[in-house]
Amino acid sequence: MSLLTQAPKGTQDILPGQSEKWQMIESVLRDEASLRGFSEIRTPVFEHTELFSRSVGETTDVVQKEMYTFLDKGGRSVTLRPEGTAGAIRAVLEHSLDNAALPVKISYITSCYRYEKPQAGRYREFHQFGVEMIGTNEPAADAEIICLADSIFRRLGVRNLSLEINSIGCPTCRREYSQALREYFRAHYDELCETCRGRLEKNPMRILDCKSPVCSAIAKGAPKNLDYLCEDCRAHFEGVKKYLDAAGIEYKINPSIVRGLDYYTNTVFEFVSNDLGAQSTVCGGGRYNGLCEEMGGKSLPALGFGLGLERLLLILEAQGIELPGKRETELYIASIGEAASLAAFRLKNALQECGVAAQCDLSGRGLKAQMKYADKLGAAFTLVLGDDEIAAGKGELKNMKTGEKTGISLGETFTSEFAAASSGRIL
Ligand code: HAM
Repeated sequence: MSLLTQAPKGTQDILPGQSEKWQMIESVLRDEASLRGFSEIRTPVFEHTELFSRSVGETTDVVQKEMYTFLDKGGRSVTLRPEGTAGAIRAVLEHSLDNAALPVKISYITSCYRYEKPQAGRYREFHQFGVEMIGTNEPAADAEIICLADSIFRRLGVRNLSLEINSIGCPTCRREYSQALREYFRAHYDELCETCRGRLEKNPMRILDCKSPVCSAIAKGAPKNLDYLCEDCRAHFEGVKKYLDAAGIEYKINPSIVRGLDYYTNTVFEFVSNDLGAQSTVCGGGRYNGLCEEMGGKSLPALGFGLGLERLLLILEAQGIELPGKRETELYIASIGEAASLAAFRLKNALQECGVAAQCDLSGRGLKAQMKYADKLGAAFTLVLGDDEIAAGKGELKNMKTGEKTGISLGETFTSEFAAASSGRIL
């Protein structure tokens, strides 16, 4: 492998033609978030390692196996963010955003880094759209963020997603549940992987999302969290279901969802697709009512989700949902000679200022090569300028699809008329 001409394993370049699809999706995500009152937050790509080990959890796969952690030149341990929540909550607390009217609603589109074994839908650098809502424990808030994810999928035309929900309770009901898990897994101690043996006493819930085939087969028969919920947690979960029903959102209760990060409490959910192969979860989230306090802030209930953009694109592609490609060139102005080249350049600028995607020769090509280039660009119209056209102030606009030619007068009227016609064509 050439280190100079190949990107690192598990990373992807987003090339012209593809980036337009990302931009379109990102604009839908931003619009849906702002529609529901979420404002964008941007946080650093690296944070103190401790932020992630404390919030995501020491015994999670992410912290134990997947973080990009290194010492900077000052000898501090820093980590490339493996997910968006910890940094976002750190920023909320650092800047006291939680002093404003609650709930605080933030969103982000961000790159994340996990040292995982790459496969379709699983990368070492990937992108998440995330939302976080801080300062409410009402079931309506859980339903609201689920509705937000659901409306994004509907707006993009994604089909056949299933929403699976569960409740993993609060620390009080968790104690009894963890005890039940310990007893169950102790009976399988010899079969568990090395990492899970270490998790058994400290945090047996993490065994439930171990990726080793043996551990996950054993985990299938483990006691379910839903059977251990306290009264309050049960009532909260019932409330979430009522709001989802009121919103007409279909869901399945999946008692096996535990999520791979330690901060979750109560409601957890995933949107799952059959079009993704093994990495079937496109969006996952839930409540994390203890995280703000754990990070040194006030005790504030909170919740959110992360939606993987690469996985979303894979689904859109598998379902044949069309997204925009490169912006079409509307008019290519070819020129013969220096005076015409200057005139073409001026006209191109005037058209661009009016919002027309116009181009002219920037490579000193002859007329034939310019027309070939215009063809490759897929220009909708072409116009050829030479000394005669400049002298007469007239030219011929050629529709490249039909071959039809129209005589035009050069000048301001042409610019504004073409701009008006082209905006009709594009929109
Ligand atoms: P997560 O389930 O770890 O949750 O990740 C959220 C989404 O990111 C996944 O559903 C998936 O679409 C995408 N994803 C995760 N790992 C990879 C990978 N290696 N390659 C490609 N895509 C991936 C979180 O990160 C939480 N912070 C979500 C959250 C926000 N919960 C509350 N607020």
